[in-house]
Amino acid sequence: QLPEPTIVVFFGASGDLTKRKLVPALYKLRKERKLPPEITIVGVARREWSHEHFREQMREGIEEFSDGIGSEELWEEFSQGLFYCPGNIDNEMSYQKLKAFLSEVDEQRNTRGNRMFYLSVAPRFFPEAIRQLGAAEMLHDSSKTRLVIEKPFGRDLSSAQALNRIVNQVCREEQVYRIDHYLGKETVQNLLLFRFANAIFEPLWNRQYIDHIQITVAETVGVEDRAGYYEHSGALRDMLQNHLMQVFALTAMEPPNALDADAIRSEKMKVIQATHLADLHHLENCAVRGQYGEGWMKGKPVQGYRKEDGVDPESMNPTFVAMKFEIDNWRWQGVPFYLRTGKRMPKKVSEVSIHFRSVPHTIFQSAAMQASPNVLTLRLQPNEGVSLKFEVKMPGGNLRSRSVDMDFAYGSVFGKSSGDAYDRLLLDCMMGDQTLFTRSDEVEAAWRLVTPALMAWETPTDPSKMPTYEAGTWAPRAAEEMLERDGRKWRRL
Ligand code: BG6
Repeated sequence: QLPEPTIVVFFGASGDLTKRKLVPALYKLRKERKLPPEITIVGVARREWSHEHFREQMREGIEEFSDGIGSEELWEEFSQGLFYCPGNIDNEMSYQKLKAFLSEVDEQRNTRGNRMFYLSVAPRFFPEAIRQLGAAEMLHDSSKTRLVIEKPFGRDLSSAQALNRIVNQVCREEQVYRIDHYLGKETVQNLLLFRFANAIFEPLWNRQYIDHIQITVAETVGVEDRAGYYEHSGALRDMLQNHLMQVFALTAMEPPNALDADAIRSEKMKVIQATHLADLHHLENCAVRGQYGEGWMKGKPVQGYRKEDGVDPESMNPTFVAMKFEIDNWRWQGVPFYLRTGKRMPKKVSEVSIHFRSVPHTIFQSAAMQASPNVLTLRLQPNEGVSLKFEVKMPGGNLRSRSVDMDFAYGSVFGKSSGDAYDRLLLDCMMGDQTLFTRSDEVEAAWRLVTPALMAWETPTDPSKMPTYEAGTWAPRAAEEMLERDGRKWRRL
C-alpha cells in the first residue's frame, strides 16, 4: 500500500540535512516504488534559489550521499516534482506566499491537499515556524496535514513544555511527528522484536538475573562544522536526552499490550517516569561530563574542542556524558543502567549490553575456572547484530574455562544493510504511523530525568574545572570511577 500523494515541505531546505539525508531518502523510496509518482517536494529557505538550482543541489546530494540517481528517466520524473519557494521563518508574508504556492503546486501535481511540513531548521526557530504555520491556517486540516519536528525538542523541561503548548494550540497530537532518527534504525526496532518475540530472554530480563545494563553510543567525529548548533546543545541535549533515552526505554519497558503507537509510547513513558539519577544527593556519583582535548585519531593529531572553529575558547559544553540511572519498579529495583555517549572516542560504536549475575555458587575453585558472568550484547551499529557471551570448557585434561561468543550478524544473514533511518521515518509519517516518533509526554519525562544534571552543570563555574579527556580515548577518568565504585567496569569495545 502506497501513501497518498503528498507535498513534503522542507523548512531549512538549503541546509545539510535536506541535501544529505531527506531528499536522498525520498528518492530512494520512489526508486523502490514505495511512493507514488505524484510525490512532490517544496524546499523553503532564505536563500534566493531557483527551482532549477534546488533540483541541481538535490541531485548532487543524491549522487554523493546515497546510491545514486539510477535511471535518468526516474530522475526526470522525480525532479519535476521538486520546487523551491524562498522564505523567511519569521516573516508572515513568506507563509502567505508559501500557502498560495502550495495550492498552485497541489493542482499541478494532484496531491489532494496532503501536506507534510518538516522543520529542519535550527531548534530556536521551531516555536516561530509552528506559530506562523498555525496563523496561516496551514495545519488546520488534521486529516491531511502533518508536522515533523527534528530534535532536540526544547532545550530543557520548561522549553519543551512551552513548545508542546505551542504545538497543541495549532494542531492535534496525531498530526505531530517528533523525529528521533535512532528509532528509524533497524537494530533499535529490533530491541522490541528481540525482547517480545523470543520466549527465552524475557524471563531473564529482570532484577533476578541481570546485574546491570550498559548503553554506549560512541562516535569518532568531533564537532565538525556544527559548532553553531552544538555549542548550545552538547552531549546531554544532543544525544543522551533523546537517542540514548529511547534505546534505554525500549530496553527497560514492560511489554506493550498491542503493537500500536500509543501502546508502545505509553510503556516507554511509564518506564522513563519511574527512572531517576541514581544518587541525587551526590550528583558526581551518577553524572559525569567531559570535553575532548587535543589528541590522536587514526594516527593523526586532532585539536581539542575549545580550539574548534566557532567554539568558545572557555566553552563549558560537554562532548561526553555518562549517567547512572535506577528504575523504581518491580522488574528493575536495584539494577543500575549506565549510559554513556561521547565524541572523539576511539571507535564509532553503539550498543546495549546486558550483564547477567554471576553464578550463585561455584563448584570450581581454581582461578582458571573462575567463570565470568554472561553478557548479551545488542550491537546497534556498526556490525549490527546480537551476541551472547558464555563460558565453555577449554579442550584438554584440566578443567579450564574460557568465554566465547555466540553471534548473529545482520550482514551475514540479511546481506547489505537496510539503509538509512530516514527512509523508514519519512514513509511512516506519510502513512500516518506514529509508532517510531516520540510523544509529548515522553519527551517531557526524558527532560525531567536529566534536569538535575543540566541545572548543576549550567551553574557558572571556573572554565578550568571542566573535566577533559584526550581525543581518541575512552573519556574522563571520572566515568571509569563511577563504575569502579560499584565494583563494575565499562565494557571494553
Ligand atoms: C545526531 C546528533 O542526532 O546524531 C549528532 O546531532 C550525532 O551529533 C548523530 O553525530 C549520530 O547519529 P548516528 O546515526 O551516526 O549514530
